[in-house]
Amino acid sequence: MKRHPSPAPGAAPLLEAAGITKRFGRYTALDAVDLSIHPGRTVSIVGESGSGKSTLARILVGLERADAGTVRFRGRPVRGRRARQAFRRSVGMVFQDPYESIDPRLTIGEVVAEPLRAHGLYRDGGAGRVRELLTAVGMEGVDADAYPHRFSGGQRQRVCIARALATDPELVICDEPTSALDVSVQAQILNLLLDLQRRNGLAYLFITHDLDVVRRISDEVDVLMRGKVVERGSAVEVTREPRHAYTRGLLAAVPASSPRERRIGT
Ligand SMILES: Nc1ncnc2c1ncn2[C@@H]1O[C@H](COP(=O)(O)OP(=O)(O)O)[C@@H](O)[C@H]1O
Ligand SMILES: [Mg+2]
Repeated sequence: MKRHPSPAPGAAPLLEAAGITKRFGRYTALDAVDLSIHPGRTVSIVGESGSGKSTLARILVGLERADAGTVRFRGRPVRGRRARQAFRRSVGMVFQDPYESIDPRLTIGEVVAEPLRAHGLYRDGGAGRVRELLTAVGMEGVDADAYPHRFSGGQRQRVCIARALATDPELVICDEPTSALDVSVQAQILNLLLDLQRRNGLAYLFITHDLDVVRRISDEVDVLMRGKVVERGSAVEVTREPRHAYTRGLLAAVPASSPRERRIGT
């Protein structure tokens, strides 16, 4: 796995989005959202269901088009076919539901190889690369020729993470990657993501409705309410002393973490 170099202090943002606006009919799902993520850092987006988090993720990764706004990656606008293609290689995506986001007709090895094939990177060393990726997500013993139905939700999410890492992205967008999983498995997946970040110098955009998760894993947080960023700050500040009533409401909805859970992320 490629390790991305540690960012210099004061480094330019890896990803910068400005004025992202998206309408579905007359409904404005995103209203001039700005966002910036620095190399090696984790920015969380929190907000209740329907606040526009997934729409923002899909726009940033290029699965959906904004009605207005710009995305810059490493200082350059992501515009035009070539820039988009290069961008797609540099950004991985992990979705919420590891059942829906895997094609059940593919073996798990084929699932992990998908981005390599899409970018013409599979070639001869592909099988070895797939093995390396599965190992990186803690699935070293598994049969790459097995079909997804044999695996649990947590293992499937590991496969999805391996797929997201296939092209050695510098940024991974995770859209509620643990919320469809059993509570007992959630911490393992979060710890895996943290571990991969440390080892590979990844930046994350981490979408969640859980401020407890934000506190454990992120540097900064943007609070999204009905398509608008209403609060932004360091994860510590925002979760300790939220300024906006909406953020306080989100915090109140989260049960205090147990002492055992507190070990996570340390
Ligand atoms: N393809 C779509 N067509 C119409 N409305 C949509 C579509 N996708 C999302 N929306 C609406 O946009 C809003 C934000 O959705 P979403 O981004 O999925 O929110 P979140 O991920 O925060 O739960 C919701 O009101 C949702 O119903
Ligand atoms: Mg969503």
